[in-house]
Amino acid sequence: MTSIIKQPQSAIPNAAIRIFCASTFMVIAGSVNIAHAAGDAEAGAKTFKKCGACHKIGEGAKNSTGPVLTGVIGRQAGTFEGYRYGKSTKAAGEKGLIWSEDLVFEYLENPRNFLRVYLETRKAKSKMKFKLKKEKDRRNVAAYLATFSQKDSIAPKITPEKTSLKADGGTITDFAGKICVTNDSDTTLLFVAEASNGKRSNKALAPKQTHCIASADANGTIGVFENEDALEGCSRLAKTGTPERLVSYTPFDNCAWGS
Ligand code: HEC
Repeated sequence: MTSIIKQPQSAIPNAAIRIFCASTFMVIAGSVNIAHAAGDAEAGAKTFKKCGACHKIGEGAKNSTGPVLTGVIGRQAGTFEGYRYGKSTKAAGEKGLIWSEDLVFEYLENPRNFLRVYLETRKAKSKMKFKLKKEKDRRNVAAYLATFSQKDSIAPKITPEKTSLKADGGTITDFAGKICVTNDSDTTLLFVAEASNGKRSNKALAPKQTHCIASADANGTIGVFENEDALEGCSRLAKTGTPERLVSYTPFDNCAWGS
Protein backbone atom coordinates (compact mmCIF):
# COMPACT_ATOMS: atom_id res chain seq x y z
CA MET A 1 0.00 0.00 0.00
CA THR A 2 2.80 2.41 0.83
CA SER A 3 4.05 2.56 -2.72
CA ILE A 4 0.58 3.29 -4.09
CA ILE A 5 0.06 6.06 -1.58
CA LYS A 6 3.20 7.86 -2.65
CA GLN A 7 2.02 8.15 -6.26
CA PRO A 8 0.71 11.55 -7.25
CA GLN A 9 -2.83 11.70 -8.61
CA SER A 10 -1.51 12.72 -12.01
CA ALA A 11 -0.07 9.22 -12.41
CA ILE A 12 -3.58 8.20 -13.35
CA PRO A 13 -4.12 8.94 -17.02
CA ASN A 14 -7.84 9.34 -17.45
CA ALA A 15 -11.22 9.08 -15.94
CA ALA A 16 -11.99 5.66 -17.40
CA ILE A 17 -8.98 4.07 -15.81
CA ARG A 18 -9.60 5.97 -12.65
CA ILE A 19 -13.01 4.44 -12.40
CA PHE A 20 -11.72 1.03 -13.28
CA CYS A 21 -9.43 1.16 -10.27
CA ALA A 22 -11.74 3.22 -8.15
CA SER A 23 -10.69 1.69 -4.86
CA THR A 24 -7.01 2.26 -5.55
CA PHE A 25 -7.74 5.82 -6.48
CA MET A 26 -9.51 6.40 -3.23
CA VAL A 27 -6.47 5.25 -1.31
CA ILE A 28 -4.44 7.82 -3.18
CA ALA A 29 -7.02 10.55 -2.78
CA GLY A 30 -7.29 9.61 0.86
CA SER A 31 -3.64 10.10 1.58
CA VAL A 32 -3.43 13.35 -0.32
CA ASN A 33 -6.48 15.01 1.13
CA ILE A 34 -7.88 13.15 4.10
CA ALA A 35 -4.50 13.17 5.81
CA HIS A 36 -4.96 16.84 6.61
CA ALA A 37 -8.70 17.30 6.65
CA ALA A 38 -9.62 14.17 8.52
CA GLY A 39 -7.72 10.98 9.31
CA ASP A 40 -4.46 9.55 8.09
CA ALA A 41 -5.28 6.16 6.60
CA GLU A 42 -1.71 4.93 6.82
CA ALA A 43 -1.50 5.66 10.54
CA GLY A 44 -4.98 4.13 10.82
CA ALA A 45 -3.64 0.85 9.46
CA LYS A 46 -1.48 0.61 12.57
CA THR A 47 -4.34 1.52 14.89
CA PHE A 48 -6.41 -1.15 13.19
CA LYS A 49 -4.19 -3.80 14.76
CA LYS A 50 -6.23 -3.21 17.91
CA CYS A 51 -9.42 -3.95 16.01
CA GLY A 52 -7.85 -6.96 14.31
CA ALA A 53 -8.35 -9.08 17.41
CA CYS A 54 -12.07 -9.09 16.60
CA HIS A 55 -12.45 -7.78 13.06
CA LYS A 56 -11.10 -8.94 9.71
CA ILE A 57 -10.84 -6.65 6.72
CA GLY A 58 -9.87 -6.96 3.07
CA GLU A 59 -10.67 -9.41 0.33
CA GLY A 60 -11.95 -12.77 1.58
CA ALA A 61 -12.20 -11.58 5.19
CA LYS A 62 -14.44 -13.71 7.42
CA ASN A 63 -16.61 -12.82 10.40
CA SER A 64 -14.95 -13.43 13.71
CA THR A 65 -15.81 -12.06 17.18
CA GLY A 66 -16.91 -8.97 15.27
CA PRO A 67 -18.31 -8.55 11.76
CA VAL A 68 -16.14 -8.16 8.63
CA LEU A 69 -15.27 -4.48 8.20
CA THR A 70 -14.54 -4.52 4.46
CA GLY A 71 -16.87 -1.91 2.99
CA VAL A 72 -18.26 -0.87 6.36
CA ILE A 73 -18.12 2.83 5.41
CA GLY A 74 -21.27 3.34 3.40
CA ARG A 75 -22.89 0.17 4.75
CA GLN A 76 -26.05 0.02 6.78
CA ALA A 77 -25.22 -0.88 10.40
CA GLY A 78 -25.81 -4.47 11.44
CA THR A 79 -26.06 -5.95 7.96
CA PHE A 80 -22.88 -7.87 7.10
CA GLU A 81 -24.05 -11.27 5.91
CA GLY A 82 -23.75 -14.18 8.28
CA TYR A 83 -22.82 -12.15 11.36
CA ARG A 84 -25.06 -12.35 14.41
CA TYR A 85 -25.36 -8.76 15.50
CA GLY A 86 -26.72 -7.55 18.79
CA LYS A 87 -30.31 -6.33 18.77
CA SER A 88 -29.43 -2.67 19.21
CA THR A 89 -26.94 -2.61 16.34
CA LYS A 90 -29.52 -4.20 14.05
CA ALA A 91 -32.19 -1.77 15.28
CA ALA A 92 -29.88 1.17 14.55
CA GLY A 93 -29.41 -0.07 10.99
CA GLU A 94 -33.14 -0.47 10.58
CA LYS A 95 -33.61 3.06 11.88
CA GLY A 96 -31.33 4.24 9.07
CA LEU A 97 -27.78 4.18 10.45
CA ILE A 98 -25.34 4.05 7.57
CA TRP A 99 -21.70 4.13 8.65
CA SER A 100 -19.72 7.14 7.49
CA GLU A 101 -16.25 8.07 8.65
CA ASP A 102 -17.72 10.64 11.01
CA LEU A 103 -20.16 8.20 12.52
CA VAL A 104 -17.54 5.47 13.02
CA PHE A 105 -15.34 8.14 14.60
CA GLU A 106 -18.08 8.86 17.12
CA TYR A 107 -19.07 5.22 17.59
CA LEU A 108 -15.58 4.07 18.52
CA GLU A 109 -15.36 6.36 21.52
CA ASN A 110 -18.10 4.37 23.20
CA PRO A 111 -20.23 2.02 21.10
CA ARG A 112 -22.88 1.51 23.75
CA ASN A 113 -23.40 5.22 24.36
CA PHE A 114 -23.46 5.86 20.65
CA LEU A 115 -26.32 3.36 20.24
CA ARG A 116 -28.14 4.80 23.28
CA VAL A 117 -28.07 8.23 21.71
CA TYR A 118 -28.91 6.97 18.24
CA LEU A 119 -31.80 4.80 19.39
CA GLU A 120 -32.89 7.26 22.05
CA THR A 121 -33.06 4.57 24.71
CA ARG A 122 -30.86 3.85 27.68
CA LYS A 123 -31.55 0.15 27.11
CA ALA A 124 -29.39 0.00 24.01
CA LYS A 125 -26.39 -2.32 24.21
CA SER A 126 -23.45 -3.07 21.98
CA LYS A 127 -21.75 -6.41 21.55
CA MET A 128 -18.61 -4.38 20.95
CA LYS A 129 -17.10 -3.69 24.36
CA PHE A 130 -13.94 -2.15 22.98
CA LYS A 131 -13.51 1.63 23.11
CA LEU A 132 -11.00 3.80 21.37
CA LYS A 133 -10.54 7.01 23.30
CA LYS A 134 -7.92 8.98 21.40
CA GLU A 135 -9.53 11.28 18.88
CA LYS A 136 -6.63 11.07 16.46
CA ASP A 137 -6.65 7.27 16.49
CA ARG A 138 -10.37 7.25 15.81
CA ARG A 139 -10.00 9.66 12.89
CA ASN A 140 -7.16 7.66 11.42
CA VAL A 141 -8.78 4.27 11.76
CA ALA A 142 -12.00 5.59 10.21
CA ALA A 143 -9.96 6.88 7.25
CA TYR A 144 -8.31 3.47 7.00
CA LEU A 145 -11.70 1.71 6.92
CA ALA A 146 -12.79 4.06 4.13
CA THR A 147 -9.97 2.81 1.91
CA PHE A 148 -11.74 -0.58 1.84
CA SER A 149 -15.07 0.92 1.02
CA GLN A 150 -17.12 0.69 -2.08
CA LYS A 151 -17.94 4.35 -2.13
CA ASP A 152 -18.50 3.56 -5.80
CA SER A 153 -21.91 2.37 -4.67
CA ILE A 154 -22.88 6.05 -4.71
CA ALA A 155 -20.38 7.27 -7.30
CA PRO A 156 -22.43 8.38 -10.30
CA LYS A 157 -20.07 7.32 -13.11
CA ILE A 158 -20.10 3.67 -12.21
CA THR A 159 -23.85 3.20 -12.57
CA PRO A 160 -25.03 5.94 -14.88
CA GLU A 161 -28.55 4.57 -14.93
CA LYS A 162 -31.02 7.42 -15.03
CA THR A 163 -34.42 7.11 -13.45
CA SER A 164 -35.23 10.76 -12.96
CA LEU A 165 -38.71 12.02 -12.38
CA LYS A 166 -39.98 14.42 -15.01
CA ALA A 167 -40.22 17.36 -12.66
CA ASP A 168 -36.52 17.14 -11.80
CA GLY A 169 -34.47 20.19 -11.18
CA GLY A 170 -37.34 22.62 -10.96
CA THR A 171 -39.25 23.82 -7.96
CA ILE A 172 -40.72 20.81 -6.28
CA THR A 173 -43.17 21.31 -3.47
CA ASP A 174 -44.73 17.88 -3.10
CA PHE A 175 -42.25 15.65 -1.31
CA ALA A 176 -44.61 12.82 -0.34
CA GLY A 177 -43.30 9.39 -1.33
CA LYS A 178 -40.05 10.87 -2.57
CA ILE A 179 -36.48 11.30 -1.47
CA CYS A 180 -35.50 14.85 -2.30
CA VAL A 181 -32.54 17.15 -2.05
CA THR A 182 -32.23 20.88 -2.60
CA ASN A 183 -28.97 22.52 -3.58
CA ASP A 184 -28.68 25.46 -1.19
CA SER A 185 -24.99 25.95 -1.87
CA ASP A 186 -23.86 28.58 -4.35
CA THR A 187 -22.42 26.22 -6.98
CA THR A 188 -23.81 23.69 -9.40
CA LEU A 189 -23.15 20.17 -8.13
CA LEU A 190 -24.04 16.63 -9.07
CA PHE A 191 -26.61 14.97 -6.83
CA VAL A 192 -27.49 11.29 -6.57
CA ALA A 193 -30.75 10.30 -4.94
CA GLU A 194 -31.01 6.61 -4.11
CA ALA A 195 -34.02 4.72 -2.82
CA SER A 196 -33.42 1.79 -0.48
CA ASN A 197 -34.30 -0.67 -3.28
CA GLY A 198 -31.16 0.54 -5.07
CA LYS A 199 -32.99 2.66 -7.63
CA ARG A 200 -31.08 5.86 -8.16
CA SER A 201 -31.08 9.02 -10.14
CA ASN A 202 -28.31 11.53 -10.86
CA LYS A 203 -28.84 15.18 -11.59
CA ALA A 204 -26.67 18.26 -11.78
CA LEU A 205 -28.44 20.96 -9.80
CA ALA A 206 -27.87 24.69 -10.04
CA PRO A 207 -28.23 26.64 -6.79
CA LYS A 208 -31.79 26.45 -5.37
CA GLN A 209 -32.84 23.53 -7.58
CA THR A 210 -34.35 20.37 -6.15
CA HIS A 211 -34.06 16.78 -7.26
CA CYS A 212 -36.25 13.87 -6.16
CA ILE A 213 -36.65 10.13 -6.65
CA ALA A 214 -39.74 8.11 -5.84
CA SER A 215 -39.31 5.88 -2.81
CA ALA A 216 -41.60 3.21 -1.43
CA ASP A 217 -39.58 2.87 1.77
CA ALA A 218 -39.03 5.15 4.73
CA ASN A 219 -35.56 6.21 3.71
CA GLY A 220 -32.79 6.26 1.16
CA THR A 221 -29.58 8.15 0.62
CA ILE A 222 -28.42 11.35 -1.01
CA GLY A 223 -24.95 11.69 -2.48
CA VAL A 224 -23.34 14.85 -3.76
CA PHE A 225 -20.25 15.24 -5.94
CA GLU A 226 -18.37 18.11 -7.44
CA ASN A 227 -18.82 16.62 -10.93
CA GLU A 228 -19.14 13.32 -12.77
CA ASP A 229 -15.46 12.47 -12.40
CA ALA A 230 -15.31 12.94 -8.66
CA LEU A 231 -15.18 9.70 -6.73
CA GLU A 232 -15.31 11.28 -3.33
CA GLY A 233 -18.18 13.43 -2.23
CA CYS A 234 -20.63 13.47 0.61
CA SER A 235 -23.48 11.15 1.38
CA ARG A 236 -26.32 11.35 3.77
CA LEU A 237 -29.29 9.33 4.84
CA ALA A 238 -32.56 10.86 3.68
CA LYS A 239 -36.09 10.34 4.92
CA THR A 240 -38.86 9.85 2.42
CA GLY A 241 -41.08 12.93 2.44
CA THR A 242 -38.54 15.23 4.09
CA PRO A 243 -36.18 16.98 1.68
CA GLU A 244 -32.50 17.25 2.51
CA ARG A 245 -30.78 20.55 1.99
CA LEU A 246 -27.12 20.90 1.06
CA VAL A 247 -25.80 24.10 2.60
CA SER A 248 -22.18 23.92 1.49
CA TYR A 249 -20.01 21.40 -0.27
CA THR A 250 -16.63 20.03 0.84
CA PRO A 251 -15.66 16.50 -0.29
CA PHE A 252 -14.79 13.57 1.96
CA ASP A 253 -18.10 13.73 3.76
CA ASN A 254 -17.50 17.20 5.15
CA CYS A 255 -20.54 18.86 3.63
CA ALA A 256 -22.85 21.05 5.66
CA TRP A 257 -26.52 20.08 5.56
CA GLY A 258 -29.66 21.69 6.79
CA SER A 259 -33.21 20.46 6.94
C1 HEC B 1 -13.14 -7.15 21.56
C2 HEC B 1 -13.62 -7.27 20.21
C3 HEC B 1 -13.69 -6.02 19.35
C4 HEC B 1 -12.70 -5.08 19.12
C5 HEC B 1 -11.29 -5.05 19.67
C6 HEC B 1 -13.27 -4.15 18.18
N1 HEC B 1 -14.55 -4.49 17.87
FE1 HEC B 1 -15.78 -3.52 16.54
N2 HEC B 1 -17.27 -4.85 16.94
C7 HEC B 1 -17.15 -5.94 17.78
C8 HEC B 1 -18.42 -6.62 17.85
C9 HEC B 1 -18.71 -7.85 18.68
C10 HEC B 1 -19.30 -5.90 17.01
C11 HEC B 1 -20.78 -6.17 16.76
C12 HEC B 1 -21.60 -5.20 17.60
C13 HEC B 1 -23.06 -5.58 17.77
O1 HEC B 1 -23.56 -6.42 17.04
O2 HEC B 1 -23.69 -5.01 18.69
C14 HEC B 1 -18.53 -4.80 16.46
C15 HEC B 1 -19.04 -3.86 15.56
C16 HEC B 1 -18.30 -2.89 14.94
C17 HEC B 1 -18.79 -2.00 13.93
C18 HEC B 1 -20.19 -1.99 13.34
C19 HEC B 1 -20.17 -2.94 12.17
C20 HEC B 1 -21.46 -3.14 11.42
O3 HEC B 1 -21.45 -3.96 10.50
O4 HEC B 1 -22.47 -2.52 11.76
C21 HEC B 1 -17.75 -1.19 13.57
C22 HEC B 1 -17.77 -0.07 12.55
C23 HEC B 1 -16.62 -1.59 14.36
N3 HEC B 1 -16.99 -2.61 15.19
C24 HEC B 1 -15.37 -1.02 14.25
C25 HEC B 1 -14.29 -1.36 15.06
C26 HEC B 1 -12.98 -0.75 14.96
C27 HEC B 1 -12.60 0.31 13.92
C28 HEC B 1 -12.22 -1.28 15.95
C29 HEC B 1 -10.81 -0.91 16.33
C30 HEC B 1 -10.55 0.49 16.65
C31 HEC B 1 -13.04 -2.27 16.63
N4 HEC B 1 -14.27 -2.29 16.06
C32 HEC B 1 -12.59 -3.05 17.67
C33 HEC B 1 -16.04 -6.32 18.48
C34 HEC B 1 -14.84 -5.63 18.55
